[in-house]
Amino acid sequence: MRVTIVGGGIIGCAVGHELASRGADVRIFDMRGTGRGATQASAGILAPYIEGHIDALLQLGINSLALYDRFLARVSADAQQPVEYERSGSLHIANNDAAAMELAIAARKFAHAGVAHELMPGHDAMRLEPGLSSRMISALLLPMHGYVRAAELTSALAAAAVRCGAHMMTANVEEICGRGPGVVAVKTTAGLIESDAVILAAGCWSGRVAPMTPPVRPVRGQLLHLHFNQRPVSRVVWGSECYLVPWRNGALLVGATVEEAGFDETATAAGVTRLLEASAALLTDIPQARFEAVRVGLRPGTPDELPLIGPSSTMRGVYYATGHYRNGVLLAPLTARLVADLVIDGKRDPELDLVRPDRFGL
Ligand code: GLY
Repeated sequence: MRVTIVGGGIIGCAVGHELASRGADVRIFDMRGTGRGATQASAGILAPYIEGHIDALLQLGINSLALYDRFLARVSADAQQPVEYERSGSLHIANNDAAAMELAIAARKFAHAGVAHELMPGHDAMRLEPGLSSRMISALLLPMHGYVRAAELTSALAAAAVRCGAHMMTANVEEICGRGPGVVAVKTTAGLIESDAVILAAGCWSGRVAPMTPPVRPVRGQLLHLHFNQRPVSRVVWGSECYLVPWRNGALLVGATVEEAGFDETATAAGVTRLLEASAALLTDIPQARFEAVRVGLRPGTPDELPLIGPSSTMRGVYYATGHYRNGVLLAPLTARLVADLVIDGKRDPELDLVRPDRFGL
């Protein structure tokens, strides 16, 4: 089966790897190269119990996190590249009474649902993470959470896809057009390509591929890359104004802004200032860090904050795998499996009901 994937971010590469490893003849198109969209500013947080504020998103996130160990092992083996991935846990911090109340409510829900967690007073959280500011009232530890280095993962997924036979194409896809029974063509800057299936995984640029009109908009995220001589915290820290992700080599990612700025990928002084101030309120050593970079990505936001995964109801052979907003890295393994089951085996997993593109008339 010939499959064209439009978009070489983490979703396009994960779907491409899964399809190629199941024997499909895959072409992945991206004008910028792999991982240059939302993925480049992703902190790679794997935290469904924090970020899954909608029931459907929570369910999808939990299911995808459960696939992560195997997914990472397969990708690293196929790519022959290591990828930094840790289930280091996350510490959700409350710095005021309202936030502490929210953590207590979340902890009660987790206890009821049998989810492993530990709610602790601020001084116990300080013992766990001595670098944190003493202004904490309480903190909620979720040991199953973690992070993956998103850019490393995307480049490993692309390499793994290629080693399974996929082709990476540096060209722009301008239009998807039907070409008779069972054949879909894409008009690209490198010519017309025919295939049996086309998967639209172009993030916030998905609406630029005619005639597709998914309601996916760019939501800018700025992310700081700082560096310490030693890991300043040992797990993901989630505060009310920013989050911190520590890598093994002493790097600390501070994220992220959430801005409606259209397709503008500029890093701004206001964004950097906000993140530096917010992170310094969480971690006392922030002013001593080396400033490495600020990265900017455009997340693909949808009106209900859920992705679009599944077949187009108007164009046969066309599938959506886009609109993952703040959870593309977390949802990559599940998205890859759902799309490959659908495209290769015609199998409709019940999870697809949560993310049907036809909820927007697509
Ligand atoms: N998932 C984190 C972010 O979008 O900032």
